[in-house]
Amino acid sequence: MNSKSFFVLLAAFVLNAQVSQAQKLPHSCARPDQVAVKHLHLDLKVDFDAKQLVGSATLKLDRKDGATELRLDTNGLKITKISAGGADLKWELGEHMSSLGKALTIALPESGDEVTIEYSTSPGAEAVQWLSPEQTTDKVHPFLFTQSQAILARTWVPCQDTPAVRMTYSAKISVPPALMAVMSASNPQEKNDTGVYEFEMKQPIPSYLLALAVGDLKFQSLGPRSGVYSEPSVLKRAVYELHDTEKMISAAEELYGPYRWDRYDVIFLPSSFPFGGMENPRLTFATPTILAGDRSLVALIAHELAHSWSGNLVTNATWDDFWLNEGFTVYFEQRIMESIYGRKYSEMLARLSLDGLKEEIAELKARDQWLKLSLTGRNPDDGMTSIAYDKGYFFLRKCEEVIGREKWDAFLKGYFDKFAFKSMTTESFIEYVDANLEGADKLNYKQWIYAEGLPADCPVVETEELANVEKACEAYIGGKSASEIASSFETQKWTTHHWNHFLRELPKLSTKQMDELDAEFQFTQSGNSEITHDWLTHVIGTQYEPGLAKLDSFLTGQGRRKFLQPLYTKLVETEQGKQLAKQIYAKARGGYHAVSRQTIDGIVGVPE
Ligand code: BES
Ligand code: ZN
Repeated sequence: MNSKSFFVLLAAFVLNAQVSQAQKLPHSCARPDQVAVKHLHLDLKVDFDAKQLVGSATLKLDRKDGATELRLDTNGLKITKISAGGADLKWELGEHMSSLGKALTIALPESGDEVTIEYSTSPGAEAVQWLSPEQTTDKVHPFLFTQSQAILARTWVPCQDTPAVRMTYSAKISVPPALMAVMSASNPQEKNDTGVYEFEMKQPIPSYLLALAVGDLKFQSLGPRSGVYSEPSVLKRAVYELHDTEKMISAAEELYGPYRWDRYDVIFLPSSFPFGGMENPRLTFATPTILAGDRSLVALIAHELAHSWSGNLVTNATWDDFWLNEGFTVYFEQRIMESIYGRKYSEMLARLSLDGLKEEIAELKARDQWLKLSLTGRNPDDGMTSIAYDKGYFFLRKCEEVIGREKWDAFLKGYFDKFAFKSMTTESFIEYVDANLEGADKLNYKQWIYAEGLPADCPVVETEELANVEKACEAYIGGKSASEIASSFETQKWTTHHWNHFLRELPKLSTKQMDELDAEFQFTQSGNSEITHDWLTHVIGTQYEPGLAKLDSFLTGQGRRKFLQPLYTKLVETEQGKQLAKQIYAKARGGYHAVSRQTIDGIVGVPE
């Protein structure tokens, strides 16, 4: 090698090292600064027997000058062929890195901006849950749904699995007859005879919002731009519960500007869905455990809808900035709830959130209490604590209090507008605040964002409603009977949130007290998942025999991690409870989604 070519090579090497240094993304091997995916077309066949999605992903690329390779994230994908313009391309899968999976490096041809990857998913793909007919509500047809957030999209689609990259997408999905497919895109409202469904998502989205559900689905309209999908037997209850959806969309627009995703639909999934809701664009995925029959748990819909601005429109650039998605969304959710149901109601929600936050802060490591998280080298799932959600919310509420609602709202509206379809880091947010928000210097933001605990200036939540509930608790502990509590505190007028507060404020109870409370208030019979959860906490604490059957059916009957995690955690605190946890988990585990399974494995252990 002559010295000139040596220096050219050296320079190229240094440059390359700099690029990779500068652009290294925390949970992705993608190098969007070199080649970025602009559009994805999926052509997949849904094979319930093999538990596989089989087909291809065609990626349209934005290539920077001189870029020669495309790097994608994959996890468990079986790749059979990669081509461009009919010619095979060279490709390579890297080492497997625990939750990150394997980097796929594709050597690009000299020119051309499209590659097609033929592949199939593995039956154990973590995003995908394949449900047998028995595991569905109606028990006739199988069901499939995906959960891509945070880094599971790569288990069913080869992609640049980072919230810093956005793409549009289209898809052709073939399903068995009698089933219908829906996605986070334009959706069918009826089944067709071909079993082939086509989709389009014209607005650019990050990979974590890719979503697919397949099942025996029915649709019913809720209003001009909203509707609900579910298994046939669930639809009526779903429509009743979601009565206020159109109102929520209007309230949200009134606050922070136009809804930019055309339709807003909700699908109720089978009860194994591991989350309360997932803000898949145009189609929120929701747990049926919010179908309380009295519309008392619809804050969850306000939350997922709010993500259409905070998260889906302005997106956290990395999972360390997760509070930009969730804190903003809880704040926005609260504002929607306040505008529809009034401040008294939304303050009850705020108080429950503050109590939960304080409890969780007591258990989290100091660094995990900062709003700006540090998740490199960890599973981003670790960031899903009440810090991003509720500490984020109280920080933004503090901003509102300091700046004044009118100015603050105008600022937020401008923020969503300015950064629509872009990704934000915490630092770019702060920069924007400093430059554009009058009074920003009065915000104690460093204490909130880069420090543990709750700052001393944390907002105070005054709720007469829940103060009254506290009096009821005191009276009960002080010796009043359950029926005296019922009459003097008019508990027949209490909402779900009053009951949540009541059950959370009560100390450890005796069997006699459990008997008495249950006889008066029928907690064991409650059909409300939030009340059931709080009651079962006492059932475990007291080892209350008459509640154990309900504990068993609740833990086997639904797979929402928010309910499973605390109950299993409390169970394993005692030797007797541990045995029960193992026994129940051995039956229930097969019905849980991988996300919940992973968490509960860590608490109870993997059954033999
Ligand atoms: N986007 C989240 C769910 C999520 C977060 C999934 C991180 C995977 C990784 C969704 O919007 C959410 O926050 N759901 C909450 C409900 C909400 C009312 C707080 C849930 O599922 O509990
Ligand atoms: Zn959320």
